[in-house]
Amino acid sequence: MREFRGDFGVIGGGRLGLQLLHRAHHCRLRCRRLRVRGTPVTPDPAHVDVVDTWDEPGQEPWPPLLVVAVPDRAIATVAEALATSVDLLGSTVIHASGALTSDVLAACRDAGAAVASWHPLQTFPPIASATAVWDGVPCAVEGDPGAEGAAHAFARSLGMDPWSIRAADKPLYHAAASVAGNLCHAVVAAAADVMRTCGLPPADGERSGLAPLVESSVAAALSTHPWERLTGAAARGDMATVREHLRRLPPPLADAYESLLPLVRRDTASDCVD
Ligand SMILES: NC(=O)c1ccc[n+]([C@@H]2O[C@H](COP(=O)([O-])OP(=O)(O)OC[C@H]3O[C@@H](n4cnc5c(N)ncnc54)[C@H](OP(=O)(O)O)[C@@H]3O)[C@@H](O)[C@H]2O)c1
Repeated sequence: MREFRGDFGVIGGGRLGLQLLHRAHHCRLRCRRLRVRGTPVTPDPAHVDVVDTWDEPGQEPWPPLLVVAVPDRAIATVAEALATSVDLLGSTVIHASGALTSDVLAACRDAGAAVASWHPLQTFPPIASATAVWDGVPCAVEGDPGAEGAAHAFARSLGMDPWSIRAADKPLYHAAASVAGNLCHAVVAAAADVMRTCGLPPADGERSGLAPLVESSVAAALSTHPWERLTGAAARGDMATVREHLRRLPPPLADAYESLLPLVRRDTASDCVD
């Protein structure tokens, strides 16, 4: 299977952009140019050849693959800016949004580029706080035929497992990803805050003492028979206990708990509502 071995450029030096530079360096891919906004970040010079800004664009040519790593709301604007300021004929332009399709890059397509969307199913925190895991991460790709092949190859070169998604499925796919990633994160972090007030000591001195429970639960949820392995008061039908949980938890967490009960116990969810 083909891997990408050329040079690439990145527009956007935020969470994904800087994690991508770090990973590309590890995988011996060369980022020739990074464009940021405002004050340039100063990434390790080994990770990128040239850093420029929209205000002070350098004269260096852009490489044939451009990755647009800006917030979803800015992708169309950046695409228009690229189309008017860069010779895109024969280039490939990809963006990393999970929710938007390649059509948001229409301005680049009209200017002669092949375009694709390229979404790693992973969370990328600020590079200063943690280094993201890339190996084996599924990467959803859709777009123009030429760009799709390049986006698959680029994903493989970074150690990911690319797959082709239908454009019409992207909004639902991204909604499910947000539930599994972001909402799961928020629920666990909120529960960890409550646990701290109960005095639970950290596991290994740093991580929350909830780690063994949460890691076992996530492993069970990701197994081939997740619903058979679900435990807890609601799954057992101990609704008096569930009602007490709802009374004791702080309101946002109690609301989240109650709204999730239909998933846990569809038959008796209404039993616990006072
Ligand atoms: N982070 C993740 O976990 C993750 C995972 C998968 C996919 N993605 C996708 O990756 C893309 C970037 O997300 P992110 O989390 O890296 O966002 P981010 O951390 O907010 O970084 C976005 C970067 O884009 C710059 N930017 C904002 N508006 C711009 C504009 N109009 N023109 C040029 N640059 C602009 C920002 O500069 P300023 O700091 O000056 O505003 C910032 O450097 C999004 O499409 C997102 O859906 C992210």
